[in-house]
Amino acid sequence: MGAEVVGVGRDEARLAKTQETLAEISSKPHRTIRADLTQAADRDVVVDALGGPVNGVVHSAGISRLSPVRMLTEQHLREVQAINVDAPMMLTQGLLKRSLIAPDGSIVFIASIAAHIGVAGVAAYSGTKAALIAMTRCLAMEVVKRRIRANCLSPALVETPLLDATATMVGSMDEERKAYPLGFGKPDDIANAAVFLLSGASRWVTGTTIVMDGGLTIG
Ligand SMILES: NC(=O)c1ccc[n+]([C@@H]2O[C@H](COP(=O)([O-])OP(=O)(O)OC[C@H]3O[C@@H](n4cnc5c(N)ncnc54)[C@H](OP(=O)(O)O)[C@@H]3O)[C@@H](O)[C@H]2O)c1
Repeated sequence: MGAEVVGVGRDEARLAKTQETLAEISSKPHRTIRADLTQAADRDVVVDALGGPVNGVVHSAGISRLSPVRMLTEQHLREVQAINVDAPMMLTQGLLKRSLIAPDGSIVFIASIAAHIGVAGVAAYSGTKAALIAMTRCLAMEVVKRRIRANCLSPALVETPLLDATATMVGSMDEERKAYPLGFGKPDDIANAAVFLLSGASRWVTGTTIVMDGGLTIG
C-alpha cells in the first residue's frame, strides 16, 4: 500500500522470506530486524535501528498456549504475558519516549476474540488480550494530544501457523469451522483491517477495537 516496512521477529529464515516477499511487491527500502521482543535489550535495538519517526506500528507478535485454569503454571502465565502484553506496551513506550511515532501516526495492537468470549482452555491468553484492549484505551487518551491513534483488532480464528499449532494440539478444527458462517479468516483479512487503522481513512477512530470473526459471534 506504499509504506516502507520494518519487520521484526526472531526467526532469521522467516525474516528473510518476508524481506524477499516485500521486495517482490514494492521497491521501497524495506528492512527486517532480528529481535526477541520479550527482551528489553532487543527492543532497544529495534528502537535504535529506526533512524527516524514511523507513521504506524502494528504489534502482532504473540503466542497462544492452551491450559485449563486448574492446570495453569506461573511459567505459562508469565510466558504469554511477556510477549502478548509487556512486549508491545514497552516497545510502544520506547518509541514514544524518543518521539519515534510521527504526529498523526497510528498504533495497532492485535488482540483476539478470546478477550470477548469464553473459550475453555485459553484463560491466560484471553486475559493478555483483554489487558491489551484495556491498556489501549488508556494509551489512546495519552497520545491523542499529538493526534496519534491507538486501536486493537480482535480476530477470531485465522489460518496461520498459530492455528496449525492449535489444530495439532486439539486434533481437528472441523467442529470450530462449522461455527464460522464466513469460514476462518485469512492473514490478508487482518492485514486489510490493519491498513485501514494505519491509514488516514480511520483518522476519526481511536481507543477502540474492531472485532473480525467471520460471523462467529452474531448469534
Ligand atoms: N491465528 C489466529 O487464529 C489468531 C486469532 C486471534 C489473534 N491472533 C493474534 O495475532 C497475532 C499474530 O498471530 P499469528 O496467528 O500470525 O501467529 P504466528 O503465525 O505464530 O506468528 C506469531 C508471530 O509472532 C512473532 N513472535 C512470537 N514471539 C516473538 C518474540 N518473542 N519476539 C519477536 N517476535 C515474536 C513470530 O515471529 P518469530 O517466530 O520469527 O519470532 C511470528 O511472526 C498474535 O498476537 C495472535 O495472538 C491470532
